[in-house]
Amino acid sequence: MLSVSERTLKLSCLVLLTFITTSTVLLMRYSRTEKVPQHYLPSTAVFLAEVIKVITCVCVLYIEEGYDVEEASATLYHGITDWNETFKLIIPSAMYTLQNNLLFIALSNLDAPTYQVTYQLKILTTAIFSVMLLGRKLKTHQWVSLVLLMIGVALVQIPNDSSKSETHESAKKRGSLFLGLMSVFIASFSSGFAGVYFERLVKFGSHGGGSVPRLSIRNIQMGIFGVLFGAIAMLYSDYYSIRQGGMLQGYNLITWSIIALQAFGGLVIAVTIKYADNILKGFSTSFSIILSSLCSYFLLNDLDLSNNFILGSFLVICATFFYGCKFNYPEKEEVLQQKG
Ligand code: C5P
Repeated sequence: MLSVSERTLKLSCLVLLTFITTSTVLLMRYSRTEKVPQHYLPSTAVFLAEVIKVITCVCVLYIEEGYDVEEASATLYHGITDWNETFKLIIPSAMYTLQNNLLFIALSNLDAPTYQVTYQLKILTTAIFSVMLLGRKLKTHQWVSLVLLMIGVALVQIPNDSSKSETHESAKKRGSLFLGLMSVFIASFSSGFAGVYFERLVKFGSHGGGSVPRLSIRNIQMGIFGVLFGAIAMLYSDYYSIRQGGMLQGYNLITWSIIALQAFGGLVIAVTIKYADNILKGFSTSFSIILSSLCSYFLLNDLDLSNNFILGSFLVICATFFYGCKFNYPEKEEVLQQKG
């Protein structure tokens, strides 16, 4: 049985994540399609979000150490120079950097709800990697929901009749469907692998046992590489633009809001992974799909609510809930402990 505080923490994570995911997706989509003289460079936003995450985690560490600068510095130093542990964060960090950059490409080419429904494929990749890396066993109803999920995602992609007669303007707005979908597919793979890998490191230690460094340290270890990879990606893709127009070209209040939401959202995801699990993330995105579809339809006028889309989204949402249902099976952690 879950204690009241555990339930509250999980519920808070769910509500917060739903809110953050919905607003991030809508703002990202809006920012990439709004008519402005100059758009901001997404790679700089990804980089700055990583910097903010590291600074925030250092502040959290300072609070955890009772506002003692010396204690906090010593803990930080030992945490970072524990190279064996620090280097283990290279892989998820590199994947998240790639993923965070790809999601901007995806949202430049897909409407917000199509992006979100397709990105639900990460539940499938998360499940597969949970089986492979954490030794989890999926129940029959969970495999069934994964199949439902894939059918739902496929349905959303099938164009309805009205798309045959789409105007030049709407085709332009839609962007490159192929590029958008490929970006989401790769991001889903990355999300599944990096999420499960991180879950393993924060819950069970590096080798499925031993002492587990606290979350703020893990986040700082990962953030160091996040800043490094973010800088490399930024310079690789936008070096000349940055030299000409500066790093903050095209920035406005919306851009800064996206950066803040991405940084804060990343930290909430880290807490969710540590204290709940990756499936809770799937739940929050499902709620978020409903919210962003409604907002996209009423506020951005960015979505044609076709029958395929509605049916596909409905299947994806049902599959997500069905996946999370408990039919008196043993808890996952118990299965893991039995295995260990
Ligand atoms: O879509 P998904 O749930 O995989 O998104 C994960 C997001 O959370 C990424 O943007 C990643 O950078 C962020 N994250 C983080 N710190 C962690 C784990 C994830 O900032 N410890």
